Amino acid sequence: MYMFAFMENSTLRKYTHGLVLAPMAGSTDSAFRRICRRMGATAVVTEMVAAAGLSRRSVKSHKLLRFNNEEKPIGVQLFGKRPGDFERAAELVSKLGFDFIDINAGCPVKKVVNSGSGSALLRNIPALIAIVRAVSSNTSLPVTVKIRIGWSPEEPVPDSLPALLAGEGAAAIAVHGRYRSDMFSGEVRKGEIERIVRNSPVPVIANGDSRSVCDALDLLDATGAAGLMIGRGSLGNPWIFRGLTTGEPLDAYPLPREVISTIWQQYEMMSEYIPVNHLYSILRGQLLKYIRGFRGAADLRGRAVGVDCREDLSDILSELEELLIAERQRNS
Ligand SMILES: Cc1cc2nc3c(=O)[nH]c(=O)nc-3n(C[C@H](O)[C@H](O)[C@H](O)COP(=O)(O)O)c2cc1C
Repeated sequence: MYMFAFMENSTLRKYTHGLVLAPMAGSTDSAFRRICRRMGATAVVTEMVAAAGLSRRSVKSHKLLRFNNEEKPIGVQLFGKRPGDFERAAELVSKLGFDFIDINAGCPVKKVVNSGSGSALLRNIPALIAIVRAVSSNTSLPVTVKIRIGWSPEEPVPDSLPALLAGEGAAAIAVHGRYRSDMFSGEVRKGEIERIVRNSPVPVIANGDSRSVCDALDLLDATGAAGLMIGRGSLGNPWIFRGLTTGEPLDAYPLPREVISTIWQQYEMMSEYIPVNHLYSILRGQLLKYIRGFRGAADLRGRAVGVDCREDLSDILSELEELLIAERQRNS
């Protein structure tokens, strides 16, 4: 039934132009972004990078700018609070081959908010506007802004915000449908995203809780947004992008051997730029996301947390393939 509705869905064309992998610090590194582009994400964004760190030439911040041409179109996401830092950062990143610059006005983390950055900017609209202006006037790249629906139910973003951002040069706005006070819990408030869509002169990309192709389509239909941004629902399941772009949700389910080869590809790409002493701790975080939702997953996850060399990984992936094959046989 839903499948039929999907095939009829006239919005399909719209979101194939805007099916974006959400930036997720610590998760959406270059390797995962490449995997998601191969699966059909139409754009990706770097993890958030401190504008101040770039101006200071911090090595940590500069490492976050690494990307591979296969990821393009790729945006770089900047966070901070001082327009001067954004001016310098925009100038610098504009020379590196990125396709757009995104401004973070949604991060709810205490440390970020207490410094006046991230979603703190939603209660300081003049500062946010000054930042958008600082970036727009120091780059020829399109500028986008990622916001939440407000600080709290008592302090939603004003209806005038989308036009203000557009007036300073924002070409699109991504909206995570939660207040800062929600952090990451509770249901996404689709009606509030829809309010922003209605008030925005530029395309809005809806974001929040798309864990499946159906969730994603519901979010799109409920909000009338021009595009979708998917975060946690893609971790361990980059096939969600394939389900959305092919118009066949069932295509989203990969064969066991494809799961295994995807993890190997991700591992090989990660080893290109992560030193071996850090590789396995970072890989384990990614690997665990793939090991869920089938019989035997909990046990296997227990062993996967110990992976610290290629041989261990190979053993875990052999077991994973067997469990996935058994699961498929049970479900067929
Ligand atoms: C671990 C983690 C890291 C995140 N890092 C960022 C970030 O660097 N920049 C940003 O704008 N949002 C960040 N987010 C928020 C996501 O981009 C997204 O807005 C949020 O997870 C809701 O979408 P989802 O339900 O599809 O995951 C992060 C979320 C998570 C869970």
